[in-house]
Amino acid sequence: MTTTIPVRLEERSYDVLVGPGVRNSLPEVVRRLGAQRAVVVSARPPAWVPDTGVETLLLPARDGEHDKRLSTVEELCGEFARFGLTRSDVVVSCGGGTTTDVVGLAAALYHRGVAVVHLPTSLLAQVDASVGGKTAVNLPAGKNLVGAYWQPSAVLCDTDYLTTLPRRELLNGLGEIARCHFIGAPGLRGLPLPEQIAASVTLKAGIVAQDERDTGPRHLLNYGHTLGHALEIATDFALRHGEAVAIGTVFAGRLAGALGRIDQSGVDEHRAVVRHYGLPAALPADVDADVLVRQMRRDKKAIAGLAFVLAGPRGAELVRDVPAEVVTDVLARMPRDRLENLVGATEAAAT
Ligand code: GLY
Repeated sequence: MTTTIPVRLEERSYDVLVGPGVRNSLPEVVRRLGAQRAVVVSARPPAWVPDTGVETLLLPARDGEHDKRLSTVEELCGEFARFGLTRSDVVVSCGGGTTTDVVGLAAALYHRGVAVVHLPTSLLAQVDASVGGKTAVNLPAGKNLVGAYWQPSAVLCDTDYLTTLPRRELLNGLGEIARCHFIGAPGLRGLPLPEQIAASVTLKAGIVAQDERDTGPRHLLNYGHTLGHALEIATDFALRHGEAVAIGTVFAGRLAGALGRIDQSGVDEHRAVVRHYGLPAALPADVDADVLVRQMRRDKKAIAGLAFVLAGPRGAELVRDVPAEVVTDVLARMPRDRLENLVGATEAAAT
């Protein structure tokens, strides 16, 4: 079954299709765009992308932070130019979130903007990265420091791509599905994966429609991410994004409890949801809390001081200027476990 989720952004509106085989809508999407040529940038085998129906250049790509840099964007744009791609043509990305990010940025910049269609192949890319128009590359100074908002013309989340996804990669995406529980989609546990994906995308589409440029409600999507990002950096990315966000979600629950925003059952719910998905809920044993606090002060949401998206009587919201001593105290009370056990904990995941 295919679910169609509209992202309503006036003239930048588009549909996200979720379901088995939806990649086969690609030629129809390309035809509707009126493109004469397509460049397909794919981190997956050529057979994973259907025929576009127009003259096509296939460029191989690699998923991963290593290639998510400005020189890749320059190389892609050079290939687009040599192929003769025009502004009325289309770029197609196929791969995980790093691929949709870098290809999305190349499409945003080439001829000041050419249509892009994403075929996300990882769970993380399907539920988050490919939807909402954020594109970016890294600089030596940090992640995602150069980017643009460039909405795709369509996103085809083919759930058949996920059947060969390694277990840990699947869990990486489940971290984002778990955080949906606290920002408006509390009923996802136990649903079949395609329904969880569709519900997560529906939630995100609604938030992005309210706040495309991330000046308010879009912060909600970063539930659990303030500590999550700090943990990714502190562990040199030994924790995957979704695992780190899961631990950050448990921490966000405890912090909301410590600030009197939610009661103990609300705090406990955070751990229960994260553990339901088989995700880790404890801090890595040898990560220094001071390093985490320092890193969290650099979070983009924090203008000054420490800022977190936290549950509360009005639902989840951004809370700025959280006292450092409360953060330190909650970190000190978090359970700890060896990194290899935390990663191992993810083996028993349920959806
Ligand atoms: N990944 C968070 C956002 O798209 O805003």
